[in-house]
Amino acid sequence: MTATPTSPDADTPVVLRATGLSVVHRTRSGPLHAVSGVDVELRERRTLALVGESGSGKSSIAKALLRLPPPTTGTVTLDGTDLAALSPRALRALRPRMQMVFQDPVSSLNPRRTVRDLVAEPLDAHPDPSVDRTAVVEQQLEAVGLPVALFGDRRPSQLSGGQAQRVAIARALAAEPRVLIADEAVSALDVSAQATVLNLLRRLTEERGLASLFISHDLGVVRAVSDDVAVLHLGRLCEQGPTEEVLAAPAHPYTAALLAAVPEPGRPLGDSGLLPADPPSPLDPPSGCRFRTRCPFADERCASEVPAQREVTPGRTVACHRPLVPTVGEAVGEAVGETVGKAVGEAVGKAVGTTNG
Ligand SMILES: Nc1ncnc2c1ncn2[C@@H]1O[C@H](COP(=O)(O)OP(=O)(O)OP(=O)(O)O)[C@@H](O)[C@H]1O
Ligand SMILES: [Mg+2]
Repeated sequence: MTATPTSPDADTPVVLRATGLSVVHRTRSGPLHAVSGVDVELRERRTLALVGESGSGKSSIAKALLRLPPPTTGTVTLDGTDLAALSPRALRALRPRMQMVFQDPVSSLNPRRTVRDLVAEPLDAHPDPSVDRTAVVEQQLEAVGLPVALFGDRRPSQLSGGQAQRVAIARALAAEPRVLIADEAVSALDVSAQATVLNLLRRLTEERGLASLFISHDLGVVRAVSDDVAVLHLGRLCEQGPTEEVLAAPAHPYTAALLAAVPEPGRPLGDSGLLPADPPSPLDPPSGCRFRTRCPFADERCASEVPAQREVTPGRTVACHRPLVPTVGEAVGEAVGETVGKAVGEAVGKAVGTTNG
């Protein structure tokens, strides 16, 4: 059973909703379970961060939302319209409403085209005589802090990484999207270019009423850019909720382990002690909870039963039999949770070298 919490942001319209999303890739070694039973909602003027290790299924989710290719199972609705029910023509007409920005800004732009033409691409794809192409290009470039007089005639090779990413964002905006998906969009940038692009994404999400999905493996970046966070491990959502709450007191041991793995001065890289070994293979994921083989707190139930999403607080859920914080309406869990929670807190605290416990 999936908990359906009443979010404090229940008034903010849901733009894109994915329910029961699964992606199974057919490989020579058999079916690869990249994404399994994921529910996500993107709301207007809000940014949801999707975080997880490499191979956890983040890009597979992004592609499934855009039907590039469609998910193996599950439903995706945009402003209430089921994308699977649309004719190919209707889907093509709707596509510009969902824009994606990729990791490598320079190679995501055609090297032969000028900045001006790159930004105009979405307009040229669906020409509308009532739209002033020159004015739109100027406006979108202005919005990302690149004056057309200085940058309009340049080609991607004549831009810095941060500038190229801003051109990619300006191009996405020219299509007047409802949804913006940024897949590791700042990972290739240095810290100051990262800050510029993150601020820009935050501001534009607010100003343009976008519903944004921000994919990253970097919790520092997630903290800076997102309102809400969804934590993914081996294709399953471990927990989701308001970013500040989740990062301040993670409910899932995997989130705690990811936080503990953030490099800190004085601690050797990768020496958090909480994230042992690589994740298991998505070709043969563990039964029950997919994190159990790496989890210091797993018991028999974790092997036999897939944990359902349980409410922690309104708008926040966790899929764990032994969550680190209490969940709503778990009479038995409360008693167990107290002892387990204390032990976990101490273990996390020890490994992180803080006083979490
Ligand atoms: N087209 C494909 N065919 C087969 N397997 C695939 C395909 N695309 C992705 N996978 C596999 O699906 C799993 C999830 O991959 P995905 O690219 O979604 O991960 P990710 O979280 O985006 O990782 P990264 O942080 O490295 O970008 C991985 O095991 C990957 O090898
Ligand atoms: Mg990826």
